[in-house]
Amino acid sequence: MLFLDLDEATSSTDLVLDLGTKDGRKTAEIDADVAAVDLVFAEDRSDELSYIRGDGTNLPFADNTFDAVYCDQVLEHVKNEEDFISEIARVLKPNGCLWLAFPNRYAVNSPHETPWWISLVPKSERWAALLSEDEASYYINHEWPVGPTRARQVCNKYFEHVEFASLRLRDEYRDWFVGNKRTSVYPPTTSGKSFDKILPAILAIGHVSLFMYVFERLWPHSEYVCRLPKS
Ligand SMILES: C[S@@+](CC[C@H](N)C(=O)[O-])C[C@H]1O[C@@H](n2cnc3c(N)ncnc32)[C@H](O)[C@@H]1O
Repeated sequence: MLFLDLDEATSSTDLVLDLGTKDGRKTAEIDADVAAVDLVFAEDRSDELSYIRGDGTNLPFADNTFDAVYCDQVLEHVKNEEDFISEIARVLKPNGCLWLAFPNRYAVNSPHETPWWISLVPKSERWAALLSEDEASYYINHEWPVGPTRARQVCNKYFEHVEFASLRLRDEYRDWFVGNKRTSVYPPTTSGKSFDKILPAILAIGHVSLFMYVFERLWPHSEYVCRLPKS
């Protein structure tokens, strides 16, 4: 299932980077050439894509290579968000576009089946080691992901135009979030149906910039569309 407008925004001649692709399932079906990059490859990865092993903070591509970068649920695993976003801006063409999605550090839920309040505890390698001895560096980053204010600051530094796009969730994306599949993790008191009822009101008040500012900081899932990388 594809969760964003990338399919509509790209054409078959475009070159798309799926950064932190894991099994490649989210971009395997888009109508474009996709370079699927990850630190490690999932065994059950789709055979539709070409995989390249690489680190998002030091990408093995020349400047101005890609028309679009798709980066879903990866930023929260990255140690240095500035190195990561600046590399993305570097490999994008001047009119290229980044779609970036990650869980809000301060949301009252946890994207990784650990208690939601963990991310409110100050970031600490010692806490992380308690959570997982073998994968401390993985946990430290995904339980203490970058917050929305910092993410916006870094995106603004490397892109001319940054749009908070979470309120434009496509139906299937919204269903994935608050529908039956994830209600145990995502807002436990909000069913897909009641969310449908309040969404028009949220969208209406989202037009007022102060409310949008608040939504951007509190929305459980941060989704940005960043255009015009700064060279
Ligand atoms: C939660 S998974 C998300 C996978 C996929 N994008 C999705 O939405 O289903 C995070 C992935 O990011 C990869 N990753 C973490 N840090 C990375 C980095 N610095 N460079 C490239 N990939 C990275 C991990 O190996 C993992 O496969």
